[in-house]
Amino acid sequence: MATTKTNEKSRLERLGDWIDYRIPYKRALRTHVTEYYAPKNFNWLYVFGVLAGVVLVNQILTGIWLVMYYKPDGALGPTGIPIAYASLETAVMRDANWTWLIRYMHAVGASMFFIVIYMHMFRGLIYGSHRKPRELVWIFGMLIYLVLMAEAFMGYVLPYGQMSFWGAQVIISLFGAIPYIGDTLVTGIRGDFVISEATLSRFFALHVIALPLVLVGLVVAHILALHQVGSNNPDGIEIKDNLDENGKPLDGIPFHPYYTVHDTFAVGIFLIFFALIIFYMPDMYGLFLESPNFEPANPLATPAHIAPVWYFTPYYTILRAVPSWFGTQIWGVIAMGASIAVLFALPWLDRSPVRSIRYKGAFIKIMIALFVICFIVLGYLGVVPANDTRTLVARICTVYYFVFFLGMPWWSRWGKVKPVPTRVTMK
Ligand code: HEM
Repeated sequence: MATTKTNEKSRLERLGDWIDYRIPYKRALRTHVTEYYAPKNFNWLYVFGVLAGVVLVNQILTGIWLVMYYKPDGALGPTGIPIAYASLETAVMRDANWTWLIRYMHAVGASMFFIVIYMHMFRGLIYGSHRKPRELVWIFGMLIYLVLMAEAFMGYVLPYGQMSFWGAQVIISLFGAIPYIGDTLVTGIRGDFVISEATLSRFFALHVIALPLVLVGLVVAHILALHQVGSNNPDGIEIKDNLDENGKPLDGIPFHPYYTVHDTFAVGIFLIFFALIIFYMPDMYGLFLESPNFEPANPLATPAHIAPVWYFTPYYTILRAVPSWFGTQIWGVIAMGASIAVLFALPWLDRSPVRSIRYKGAFIKIMIALFVICFIVLGYLGVVPANDTRTLVARICTVYYFVFFLGMPWWSRWGKVKPVPTRVTMK
């Protein structure tokens, strides 16, 4: 960089101006980074949005790398095992240099994605971030969550292990319970009358191209919607209500440098945990990568216990908890679909006079605590085989799940609330 006089611009600055004249990136940086005023009272629960972005980038980069080795081919190779399975378990995990690390970064990354997203959603729920005027931020978030579930499901089928095959078999056949169109839909999704190469290649196309594109587009919409209305905070107060003489929020600080530094620290801590899992327990004792998936898909041998990966199990338990009245599974499928669909309505179900949990009464705190316990119990019950006691507990938790959401317009207004301060607090 050669600057001759102090008031003259360097070559780099002039290049920046040249580009900015043609595409105004400086304005975008100001709006979204250096002059985006975020509340100064963010706590640690506010790092999960950025962490979700980090995991998304990790998944895309490691995914591109894996595609260089992976073959979406269900036919048996020269060694008698499906080519898709061998391309991962042999070529990636054993033969090529360092690709085992890339594979584990991707596979563990999927579970980390859901841990981060569940924390991010929980933060939204307790601080009332879904409420007016952030309804669209929540809706875009929910669409991300849906696409993420489809993305993870299809990714899990690709290694073509036993659980990939049988998990897909169970989940896809659920669509068969839909009256009239069920059978056609199931054949359409599989592309065949059984899970086969046709299934693998369409899941591959969706997993590596279509859904990631949609995901990235939705994340952009999510952030734009958030920056339009501004961030909520642990006090649930609008910082835009208290402006200084220049029109800047008195309780806001620029995202850069304050939160870029703050979030970099959080990313560091997260990466330490991520690395520990990748290097020491990549399968998390069968929770992140289930043991039957280390055996090639065998259409003639069903695993003793078929269960989806942990992040789907709360919904899977709801599915199993509902009896097959009139000999059809459709009730369970409806309950499972409704348990996800109801989350979209959250901004309109929550009628509490205050936004943040900090100013809500003991009753609402107990309702939320019970919900968290029920969600975890439902998750646990989906990992273990069902028995009579577990089915009973699953039914109780399922009922509570729906009471929590569908009863929210009433119970969210019960009990005393504390006075909300006019300015944010730095607890
Ligand atoms: C790839 C997935 C996602 C990414 C990268 C992402 C990213 C972000 C980022 C960077 C923020 C601002 C920082 C923060 O508040 O943490 C944010 C805020 C928010 N996100 Fe997400 N998000 C994702 C998924 C979701 C999901 C699934 C939901 C809920 C269904 C959601 C709901 C929200 C809400 C309500 C806010 C506003 C929080 C507030 O202002 O208090 N997000 N998101």
